[in-house]
Amino acid sequence: MAIDLKQTAINPDLPEIPPTRNTQAALVAVLKDLQGNILKSHGRDHSRHLFVTFKTADAADRKKARQWLAGLVTSKLVTSAHRQREEARAYRATLAATEANPAGAQQAVEDASKVFVGVMLSAACYRDLGLGPDATPDDPSFLAGAKQRAGFLNDPKDDQWEPGFRNTLHVLLVAADDHATNRLDPLLKRLRNDLKDIAAHLHEETGAAMRLDASGQWNAQAPVREHFGFVDGISQPLFFADDIDRARTRQGGIDRYDPSAPLDLVLLKDPGGDRSTAYGSYFVYRKLEQDVPAFRAGEKALAAKIAQHAHPTTPPATPHDVALAGAYMVGRFQDGTPVLERDTAGLGAEPNNFAYDEDVDAVRCPFQAHIRKTNPRGDKQRQFGVPLTQERANRIVRRGISYGKVTLDPKPEDGKVGLLFLCAQSSIPDQFEFIQAAWANYQDFLVPGSGLDPVIGTLPRRTPPPTQVPQPWPKIYASHNQLDFAKPQPEPPHFPTPMSHTFTQAVGQWVTMRGGEYFFVPSLSALTAF
Ligand code: HEM
Repeated sequence: MAIDLKQTAINPDLPEIPPTRNTQAALVAVLKDLQGNILKSHGRDHSRHLFVTFKTADAADRKKARQWLAGLVTSKLVTSAHRQREEARAYRATLAATEANPAGAQQAVEDASKVFVGVMLSAACYRDLGLGPDATPDDPSFLAGAKQRAGFLNDPKDDQWEPGFRNTLHVLLVAADDHATNRLDPLLKRLRNDLKDIAAHLHEETGAAMRLDASGQWNAQAPVREHFGFVDGISQPLFFADDIDRARTRQGGIDRYDPSAPLDLVLLKDPGGDRSTAYGSYFVYRKLEQDVPAFRAGEKALAAKIAQHAHPTTPPATPHDVALAGAYMVGRFQDGTPVLERDTAGLGAEPNNFAYDEDVDAVRCPFQAHIRKTNPRGDKQRQFGVPLTQERANRIVRRGISYGKVTLDPKPEDGKVGLLFLCAQSSIPDQFEFIQAAWANYQDFLVPGSGLDPVIGTLPRRTPPPTQVPQPWPKIYASHNQLDFAKPQPEPPHFPTPMSHTFTQAVGQWVTMRGGEYFFVPSLSALTAF
């Protein structure tokens, strides 16, 4: 029996009292056939991404490749959504028990944590292995592949991507663990060995969650940051009732912004698997290199402009101006405090219960701030009357991880750093591509002259950047609590030409796409049927 994907707040642990759209038995059957890391992050701090290009010239090669895929499931390597949940529960129970009795704690916790494995296939894989049109998911962007979509997204052409991504990629296998090498090294070695006769190319990326405090020091308890220094992974669509409950109690409530999402935000029927239980999801993969020194220079340039407006008699930008400049670009301070809420950091990563209806003129949070561009939280309804449900259907579920040296201050000798961006959705054109192209890269979203998303916005590659773009960048006059909304607020100042110029020159150079692909995460039953 298929499930109703319109359900929000699923709770597979409860019998259906009160009745929900789906029976407990149906939900559990689906979660056992669905891969993990879609409805909930696998949460491991270390990740290895193995890209496989199969030999597909003759039928025997293709058969071996299909058998390898099926073997990943029959050998129980691939983690189902159900197993991920069970393992997480056992892990939490061990943590709680070891807190009460610390003797032998480290070993017990290590034993309780399991390696996560997920596998996803490109459209080229379905085509080249002859998996059949009836079994192939039919999203148009998935079928076209990321190389074909580069122009539309203002990405560099694929002949400029890193060599590992220029090949046709068939499979991405994600292996993740809490330890960087102990179990991942032998697993990857074994997989490479198994693939040596059937793969034409293998490419690998390594990701590590950066648990760093504000000064850049490693701290296992710290939230995860990305290389520009900002806490990441705060705001996500949530599917399980217990996650929504946690947001209600620990993220300041859910009455101003509701993070819950129906299953169909990310799930769709997997045409290749068991008709009653098989669901899958599309994953976008993008290697995004971050130019940290250039970002810092951009932050300082903006801070200088803020200083000119905020304290013209004491011109040099203060650390507060620099922090505020970063917050204007991202929409949150480095510690996660939303700039909508106040003009200094300090609230930490929890607050997510906010929307922009109390800031319709973008006086506090710029329209172009990364989080306002990529999740406008009702702005479209206010500006254009677009129903909120429609805007919320554009959301994505982010599952990325940083790559390169774990530091907030990378030196040239440290090599390249950035984000292995991964996101799940049920429609690539309506979700990832829409956010990137129609919002982040579109200078007139949300209002004319808003500008590009300062973190990920890019201009068309072939058009030289304009020398000047109007930037109606608002200035914070006072903290949230000091603003008197009864009085008319002053017009947000337009930054003068030099600022517009500096900013426009810098945008699009801080994050560069180095390669990627579109994948489908098939059900376990599909993988064994190939
Ligand atoms: C949120 C950084 C790429 C979509 C955030 C946050 C940070 C961040 C610091 C705020 C914390 C949070 O809510 O998780 C970055 C960096 C990127 C990058 C450094 C590239 C190197 C992307 C891309 C997309 C995207 C490519 C999609 C096209 C989002 C969304 C949110 C977000 C949807 C949550 C907004 C909200 O719900 O408030 N990002 N991001 N990001 N980002 Fe990115």
